[in-house]
Amino acid sequence: MKAKILSLLKKYHPEYVSGEEISRVLGVSRTAVWKHIQKLRETGYRIEAHSKVGYRLLEAPDKLYEHEFTALLKTGLIGKEIVYRETVSSTNELAKELAHQGAIEGTVVIAEEQTDGRGRRGRIWYSPTGQGLWFSVILRPPIAPVDIPKLTLVWAVAAAKTLREWSGLPAGIKWPNDILIDNRKVAGILTEMNAEPDKVNYLVIGIGVNVNLDPGDVSADLAGIVTSVAEQKGGPVVRAELLAALLNNLDSLYQDFLAGGFSSILTAWKGMSVTLNRWVRIDSLNNIDEGIAFDIDDEGALLLMKKDGSMKRILCGDVTLD
Ligand code: BTN
Repeated sequence: MKAKILSLLKKYHPEYVSGEEISRVLGVSRTAVWKHIQKLRETGYRIEAHSKVGYRLLEAPDKLYEHEFTALLKTGLIGKEIVYRETVSSTNELAKELAHQGAIEGTVVIAEEQTDGRGRRGRIWYSPTGQGLWFSVILRPPIAPVDIPKLTLVWAVAAAKTLREWSGLPAGIKWPNDILIDNRKVAGILTEMNAEPDKVNYLVIGIGVNVNLDPGDVSADLAGIVTSVAEQKGGPVVRAELLAALLNNLDSLYQDFLAGGFSSILTAWKGMSVTLNRWVRIDSLNNIDEGIAFDIDDEGALLLMKKDGSMKRILCGDVTLD
């Protein structure tokens, strides 16, 4: 109900919408409308009430409350349940706990701040309050564990596609799943699974997008390596709208993937790749390889052509672009 009232207030903004109109459209009493308006005010919305003309939204808090983005969702699965927290250690950790307790597929765990945000290979993921999208999705795909790396590529395509469509920025994908703009990282993906040899129990895919982060605030080791949507756009953007666009793309690409459409997703991945046909250095499990990133195979592995012309298939690793 709060989401519906908000979307009416936003639709009429900057004009007033009468209490009578809200109660007619939503089929609830005017007293109920008033109570919901009070609740919205308690969570930071500034709403003016005028006895003759009704209600008018003056200011909305920059928060990722469910009712800020659910009206924009076109998803069938992702976002069926939304768990919102102001602060968590890591949304991946909370999502794993919830998945273990039986949370349904499509549950999204989102936080304004992570105090122990994680990156790949145990790295720290800087997740300051209100400056990014830090969220994890619980999936229970009916696929074999060996096919999980493909899903990480699906997520990378959704993230790059969303940034391109929604913000018009030239986002590219560095294998396997770093999203770069201008050679600097704007988003990253961390996939964790709980599986038996031939069955996935659940999968948690976490994504971090630096949205309104000021790259000037990051620690020395990240300086020059990270960027944000705001930095690239030249000003802050509305995180809730970007979140909805991203969830919509994740949902539709996940459904395509489940319906057997990985090859077209792989084509999209290649089209947005900043890795292919470049000289790269790959650090995988303490083994360093160098060569030309020749192709990605049907399993999502990188095919590296070494100096001597031999081809090496690499399933995971950290790529440094030359
Ligand atoms: C990487 O590029 O190293 C992966 C970064 C993944 C960060 C996200 S933020 C939401 C989720 N929770 C975490 O602790 N990590 C992921």
